[in-house]
Amino acid sequence: MANNLLEINDLTVTYGDFKIITEVSFAMKPGEIVCIAGESGCGKSTLIKAVLGIKQLGAHIKKGSIVLDGRDITHLGVEERRQILGTQIGYVPQNTRGSFNNIRSYDVQYQEAMRSHNKKFNRVEAIKCFDRLNFPDSDKLLAYQPWEMSGGMNQRMAIALAVLLGPKLMLCDEATSVLDVTSQKEVIEELAKLRNELGWSILFITHNLGVASHIADKLGVMYAGRMVEYGDIRKVLDDPIHPYTRKLLAAIPGKDRKLPVGLEGRPPLDGAEWEGCNFVPRCEYCTDSCKTRPYKLQEIVPGHYASCTSGRSV
Ligand SMILES: Nc1ncnc2c1ncn2[C@@H]1O[C@H](COP(=O)(O)OP(=O)(O)OP(=O)(O)O)[C@@H](O)[C@H]1O
Ligand SMILES: [Mg+2]
Repeated sequence: MANNLLEINDLTVTYGDFKIITEVSFAMKPGEIVCIAGESGCGKSTLIKAVLGIKQLGAHIKKGSIVLDGRDITHLGVEERRQILGTQIGYVPQNTRGSFNNIRSYDVQYQEAMRSHNKKFNRVEAIKCFDRLNFPDSDKLLAYQPWEMSGGMNQRMAIALAVLLGPKLMLCDEATSVLDVTSQKEVIEELAKLRNELGWSILFITHNLGVASHIADKLGVMYAGRMVEYGDIRKVLDDPIHPYTRKLLAAIPGKDRKLPVGLEGRPPLDGAEWEGCNFVPRCEYCTDSCKTRPYKLQEIVPGHYASCTSGRSV
């Protein structure tokens, strides 16, 4: 797989004895935005934690590899990891209130972050960066403390810090989910712009398939720790193949004020339960062999992969 910025190969991740991600593989090209969707608990954040590789997060890579720009980063030591976090891999969590200290100015916190990555902090550059991102009152922002800012603006300050650190890959875990629709739109547009200008690749975790449809080039759908569908966003949204993806799309609220067709039941909470398809208890098309037939993501049409085609009308 030449020319990929990120390669996730056959990745299995555990917390203690619980297998949460099972044999996930996909690759991202430079400048590509990949969204990962799926119900709560399917392992989306765990995937991000595995790429970040910070031991304290508890996610343990049991099998497989993570390759960043041709370098295997699966089991880097603490110091090597510190060198790539920030400068090669940027991270915007769901709520940046937890990652900034609420009562210290952005100025101090930007300085510290830059210093910890052996980079010089230059206020003029920072203000230029705010201008480029169309932040209001860009020359005053550094003096503020996070508690004085809205959630959306705080999120945008985290993105600006990432721009200054200059990573190639951005990991966004529900980075817009807590925001109102206006701030959400601003952040999404900012990220799309940065991808175009800086060539960022963005791994974007979201519950919101509307957001994914707006920003992504590729969409991956996870269920119980497995990637059950992956492909070009338009193909996946216009012609969903896996029964789970079809249900997920049917569960998006419509404009007709009717309740969407929800998904009955819950996914298994501790990842894959058996070797075969884990969607069996909730799938209207399952047959006896589904529980035992080994999971395999197959290319069903060019650029569009799924682990099951049951019930698909073609
Ligand atoms: N540190 C941890 N230790 C043990 N189990 C954990 C830990 N973090 C998450 N889990 C479990 O792993 C599973 C997957 O969690 P994860 O946070 O990756 O899901 P998610 O897809 O991001 O869900 P959400 O959409 O709610 O954010 C869940 O069952 C969760 O309870
Ligand atoms: Mg999560």
